[in-house]
Amino acid sequence: MTPPYAARVTLRGCSTQPTPLTLGTWGVMTDAYQDVLTDEAFQSLVVEAYRLGLRSFDLAFLWDGERAMRLVAEALGPDIASCFFFLRAGRTTTGNPDKPIAVDFGLTALRPQVERALELLGVAKVDMLLLHAPPRTLVERGETMQGLDVLRSEGLVGAIGLSTTSGAVALTALEQGFACAAMPYNALVTHAVRELDEGFPVVDGEEARCVLAHSSLLHGVLAARVPAGHQYPPGDHRRERWTEQALRTRLYHARALAPLANRHTDDTRKVETHVPNLAALALRFALSHPRVGSVAIGPRDVKHLALLVEGVSKADPLSLNAATLREIETLLASAGA
Ligand SMILES: NC(=O)c1ccc[n+]([C@@H]2O[C@H](COP(=O)([O-])OP(=O)(O)OC[C@H]3O[C@@H](n4cnc5c(N)ncnc54)[C@H](OP(=O)(O)O)[C@@H]3O)[C@@H](O)[C@H]2O)c1
Repeated sequence: MTPPYAARVTLRGCSTQPTPLTLGTWGVMTDAYQDVLTDEAFQSLVVEAYRLGLRSFDLAFLWDGERAMRLVAEALGPDIASCFFFLRAGRTTTGNPDKPIAVDFGLTALRPQVERALELLGVAKVDMLLLHAPPRTLVERGETMQGLDVLRSEGLVGAIGLSTTSGAVALTALEQGFACAAMPYNALVTHAVRELDEGFPVVDGEEARCVLAHSSLLHGVLAARVPAGHQYPPGDHRRERWTEQALRTRLYHARALAPLANRHTDDTRKVETHVPNLAALALRFALSHPRVGSVAIGPRDVKHLALLVEGVSKADPLSLNAATLREIETLLASAGA
C-alpha cells in the first residue's frame, strides 16, 4: 500500500496531483547554501527521490532551471510521465551584471518559457505554472490571470499559481482564480499562510489545498542540528539573512521543541504516531495545515533526503494531531517565539 507521504494530493483547480513531498531545487541548483550540486549528484538526488516515492518537483528558470530540467528528464527517462511539475517562471537570469534578473509576467514572455520547459522535460504539460514572485501591484491590477489563461486552455499548463511571501498577495491572487500559492510555512513562520487562511474561507465541496509550502525546516534551523554560537560561512544565504543574534534566537526557539522529538503523539505508541526527530516534526507541522497540499523539501544530498523521508515514512496520518500542534504553540510561546 502507498504510504501517506507518497500518496497523491488533490490541489484546488488542478486535475493532476503532486505528492505531499516535492523535491525542491533552489538549494542545490544555486549557491544559496554555497555548494551547487554536480550533474551526477543532482541526478542521484532526483533518482533517489523518485525511488522513495516522490513524484513532484519544484523547478524555476531563475534557479538554473534549464540545467535542472535537462538533468531531471535524463535521470527519470520515461518515468517522467508520472511526475508533477511546479514550474516558476517570469524571472530569468540575463547574464548581464548590471541587470542580472529580467522580470516579465506577460504572455509573450511566459509562453516561450513554458514551451522551453516542455521541450526540456519532454512532457506534454506543465502541471502548475507559478509566477515567480510577481510584484504586489501586478497581482492587484488583476489582469494577469486573464492574460495567461490561454496557456491553460491550450493545455500547455494544467493550472496557474504564484509564489509570494505575503498572505495578502496570495489571497488577492486566489480570489482572482489563481490555483496555488507557494509560500514559506514552518513552526516559526506562519503569518503568510494563516493570513491567507483567515481571509479565504473554504467553500463546501471545493478542495481546500492550494499551498505549496517551502522552508519547512526554516532553512535547516528547525532540525536543530547546529550548535549554539554556530556561524554560517560567508556566501551562505543564512549568514546574510540573520544576524548572529537573530540566528541564536531562532536556534533557541527550535530547541524549545526538543521534548516533542523521539516521541509518540498518542498513548497507543504505534509506529504511525512516532515522531523520530525535529526535522520530521517540522515537515509534519507544515503538512498539518489544511491549505498545504505539498511541501517543497530542500535536501542537499541523498543522505538528507533519506533522513527526511525516513522521518515521515511511517506517519499515518501525516498531519500532527491537535494536541501536538497545541504543544508546539505552547512550547514556542514559553520560549518567547
Ligand atoms: N527558501 C526560499 O526562499 C524558497 C523560495 C522559494 C522556493 N523554495 C523551495 O523550497 C525548497 C526548500 O527550501 P529551503 O531550502 O528553504 O528548505 P528547508 O527545508 O527549510 O531548508 C533546507 C536546508 O535544511 C538543511 N537540511 C535539509 N535536510 C536536512 C536534514 N534531513 N537534516 C538536517 N538538516 C537538513 C540543509 O541545510 P544545512 O545542512 O546547511 O543545515 C538544507 O539546505 C527550495 O529548494 C525551493 O524548491 C524556497
